[in-house]
Amino acid sequence: MSFRKDKVESKFIRIAQEHEIVLDYLEKLKSMLNLAPRDRLQKLREMLPVFKSDMRHHFQIEERFLFPAALLAMPSVELVDRVLMLQKEHGYTERDMDILEKMVENEPEETEAIFQLMSDIIEDTERHAKIEMDDIFPKMDADKKCQKIISGIILEP
Ligand SMILES: [Fe+2]
Ligand SMILES: [Fe+2]
Repeated sequence: MSFRKDKVESKFIRIAQEHEIVLDYLEKLKSMLNLAPRDRLQKLREMLPVFKSDMRHHFQIEERFLFPAALLAMPSVELVDRVLMLQKEHGYTERDMDILEKMVENEPEETEAIFQLMSDIIEDTERHAKIEMDDIFPKMDADKKCQKIISGIILEP
């Protein structure tokens, strides 16, 4: 994951970079939509545990560092609303990934429900990431106070 001390110490943090791993997973999942159902099921079984834990880690970075820094640096009712919604969506996505993992483990063949849930996760994650990347993160990148707060949080002993 990209938020490490060496990054912070390299003068300037690009918050948008934190999404590289999410975009990478989205590409992988989308390309899997074209596979034969049996291959897709096998691939899902292989990738879901890592996908789940990487996504959880990403959500934690946002919830523990990035969102609090944004709210402290640029407080507004609108941003509070937005952040609360994004955090709620993290919870929905974690729940969906858990359900998908159970389905994939228990079904011998891909079902319509598996394909549908996988497609929903892709769609929801894309929409969610777009709000962060188009709206919140560029504002944070442009805000000096926000950069200072994040450096302070991450470099705390
Ligand atoms: Fe998020
Ligand atoms: Fe995100």
